[in-house]
Amino acid sequence: TQEQASVITIFGGSGDLARRKLYPALFQLYRHGILHDHFAVIGTARRPWTNEYYRDVIATSLEGEAGAVSDSVHAFASHFYYQSHDVTDADHYVTLRKLSAQLDDKYSAGGNRLFYMAMAPQFFGIIASHIRSEQLLSASGYNRLVIEKPFGHDFDSAKELNDSINSAFDEDQIYRIDHYLGKEMVQSLMAIRFGNPVFKPIWNRDYVDNVQITLAEAVGVEERAGYYETAGALRDMVQNHIMQLIAYVAMPEPESLTPAAVHQAKRSILESLKPLTTAQAADNFVRGQYVGDTPDQRDYVQEDGVAADSKTETFVAGRIELTDSAWTGVPFYVRTGKHMTRKSTQITVNFKPTEHNIFAPVGCPDLSGNSLTIFVEPEEGYRLVVNSKQLGQDYHVGQFPLNFRHTANEIANAPEAYEHLIQDALAGNQTNFTRWHELKATWQYVDKIREAWDASPDMPTYESGSMGPSASDDLLAKYGDSWSWDG
Ligand code: BG6
Repeated sequence: TQEQASVITIFGGSGDLARRKLYPALFQLYRHGILHDHFAVIGTARRPWTNEYYRDVIATSLEGEAGAVSDSVHAFASHFYYQSHDVTDADHYVTLRKLSAQLDDKYSAGGNRLFYMAMAPQFFGIIASHIRSEQLLSASGYNRLVIEKPFGHDFDSAKELNDSINSAFDEDQIYRIDHYLGKEMVQSLMAIRFGNPVFKPIWNRDYVDNVQITLAEAVGVEERAGYYETAGALRDMVQNHIMQLIAYVAMPEPESLTPAAVHQAKRSILESLKPLTTAQAADNFVRGQYVGDTPDQRDYVQEDGVAADSKTETFVAGRIELTDSAWTGVPFYVRTGKHMTRKSTQITVNFKPTEHNIFAPVGCPDLSGNSLTIFVEPEEGYRLVVNSKQLGQDYHVGQFPLNFRHTANEIANAPEAYEHLIQDALAGNQTNFTRWHELKATWQYVDKIREAWDASPDMPTYESGSMGPSASDDLLAKYGDSWSWDG
């Protein structure tokens, strides 16, 4: 571990994301020596807080964190400074510039600046342009921008946002967060695919029948209706997390692990999303909204902040195809939703049955059970289902799972997604961040689905605690498939 020197400015320092994710992650980096003496964090937001109050907020956000004993929490929090900030007021940026310079001196932060945008996305552009016009960029160290989702609302708004941040930062200074890329099991996909002769040669249309990605959540919309009503499951989860998972599952082997090589491989897959006509989008994607009749699980339209006639989907299922020659004709079935059976992210690769089945005459007509499932979260591990002989005199072939899971203890001791990603940003490693061309391709794809949905009022419902509307099962049944799911 190498100590990283930086002045980190967090726009949105009083917000939920900062408290739930960023401060705990920064604390773990501190605990592990990646942040040590030579750093300061400036938190900005509108409210008029003092440094003391801010440091109390930091301490509170660390309750229950591993290693969060009072001395170290206190020492850590002493590096935090609060600056009340109106994002549209140029003078406030001048104050920030001076404060950054002062803290850089005080902590010998090497002239490095990390700007972290963790607030409402409508301000990302204006902040970026003020960072440039009020000269917050440092001349003596690095300047990096870390930017949270949502990165736009459709292709046009994403492009506008991208243009505005490009006015202050070059692409190699921009770290767009998709926190799924910080998850251990997502990072392990390359090792599974490219590190094993049992998988590497068969990971293509010749051997793969279909790929499935389920990103199920147990929670509902909670307190986020304001945002969620403008987004819905398609924008909230498919355009970003699910598309990134597809990229890692389907991309060709990169030449190396350099950011450029990995990004190139991912880009080639996302640019090969088979374009949809509006009619195809309507046929290949289904949406749904949860309904429920308990106090915890009300109808979505009864949730606080949700319009009574809301047409926001809380569930999406779809069938995606790629034009990449390794994958033509292989469906990628994806689904995600709120208030589903339980929280679990699973990726299953279903292999084709072997062409010649010598076991058919002895009563085993179906050898289609061979599959590999990657459990991303909350369990982390794999399950490989193999066909083998059942015990007994007769030669009957059955399916046997080979299972591996990391232990709860191992998981608890591994870095959390944000810890991985912030450490990467501090180290200047862009591999696990998304690039503009990936967003461009995925927004263009998703916009078509929105277009199809906006043209039709149809909104199937599903019971809270279920796996989505029946239309989602029907979608796969139409192609003779069914959902893979370890419940
Ligand atoms: C976020 C979405 O990007 O991902 C949330 O905005 C969702 O709606 C969350 O709950 C899921 O992330 P995780 O890490 O809990 O699977």
